[in-house]
Amino acid sequence: MAYLKGEISLPGDKSISHRSALFASFKKNPSTFENFNFNNDCSATLSCLKMLGIKWETNDEKITIHGKPLSEWQPAPTTLYAENSGTTTRLISSLLANLPFISRISGDESLKKRPMKRIIDPLTMMGADIQSKEGMLPLKFMPVEILHGIRYKLPMASAQVKSAVLLAGLFAEGETVVIETTPTRDHTERMLGLKSIKNENGSRSVFSSQQTIIPELSMTIPGDFSSAAFFIVAALLLPDSELMIRNVSLNPTRTGLLKILKEMGANLKIIKKQDYPESSGDIYVKYSPMHNVSIDASMIPNIIDEIPILSILASSTEGEFELHHAEELRYKESDRIMAIVDNLKATGITVTEYKDGFKVPGNQSFTRGHIKTFGDHRIAMSFAIANLTTRDEIILDDPACADVSFPQFWSILKKVTVN
Ligand code: S3P
Repeated sequence: MAYLKGEISLPGDKSISHRSALFASFKKNPSTFENFNFNNDCSATLSCLKMLGIKWETNDEKITIHGKPLSEWQPAPTTLYAENSGTTTRLISSLLANLPFISRISGDESLKKRPMKRIIDPLTMMGADIQSKEGMLPLKFMPVEILHGIRYKLPMASAQVKSAVLLAGLFAEGETVVIETTPTRDHTERMLGLKSIKNENGSRSVFSSQQTIIPELSMTIPGDFSSAAFFIVAALLLPDSELMIRNVSLNPTRTGLLKILKEMGANLKIIKKQDYPESSGDIYVKYSPMHNVSIDASMIPNIIDEIPILSILASSTEGEFELHHAEELRYKESDRIMAIVDNLKATGITVTEYKDGFKVPGNQSFTRGHIKTFGDHRIAMSFAIANLTTRDEIILDDPACADVSFPQFWSILKKVTVN
């Protein structure tokens, strides 16, 4: 069986790269980001900003964005195109809702099927004028006088919705408060320096307003933890593997997978090197015999993007794995519960599908099979890792869709794979 050996560093975190570009775009002074991720998704954010008159220059993995107040942005000549990127659409919508001219945004076939009502509703409560067909793309934004702050309890655990409302709050009259009962990734709060408090019932309130003083944004973006997850799981799965992953994000709202893996018996060493504005450091991982554990519902938002790769590990690991409370997976780049279940079945794994998750009896082996990625980057990369446990018998229909988040995936994997 193949195994992984060596040391890698990864392109910048996708969520932070999107936010870097978007938040820098309305700041007066230029902001520079090292290790920016120029994957398809973050490039879509940059292209949309460019169409609205924002300029930037790049040099290797470094980008300098020359922001300007929304009042100086220019109407886009055509409909903005967010490609496959939900983060682009949901976050830039808060800026489009504040522009003094009409704008429109659309995306690819997958994005057109994803729910946008979740941001249309709160932005409309704030006074935005957004037109859509049944809460889906394309969206049309009409100019309005000014938005007003709202108090909004998130109806679902979503960092994109939380971020969209808080971002709109920066331009609104009065204060905006977003209340979340289950913690989701907190990059927006950290980067915009937003005040937050923990409420008596355990929920958290985050505040934004026109008075928010946004700190310096320039930074070196830590490696993407969700990209690291494929390599961490591969090293744990393949006997003789040993891998060092340098300068990766260790933001606690993102690294629930590490906690779960440790409970499963993983041999992991985490060397934290930085805490502000984002936690980051090195992760050392070595092959480990493991056992499945139960996953608490409160953990789901923290591991939401890692569930496809966790399903690969869970199938091979000792003991039964049962996941619930993860219905949000059905609204990702593909219906990820269906994509995971169908592809596990296609590669010889026994699995039961639930509305909000799935169950696999552990200790199973992957066999020859054809993977339908549904154009979903995380499904493609997860089954590429499963393939390492076979003699290259798992065939993906669209390996290039990894480019959505991680165009370097195949070359880095090749570099550390020993056959
Ligand atoms: C993201 C939040 C999550 C995640 C997505 C990126 C973000 O989506 O799945 O890949 O950058 O805020 P939701 O907010 O829809 O859960």
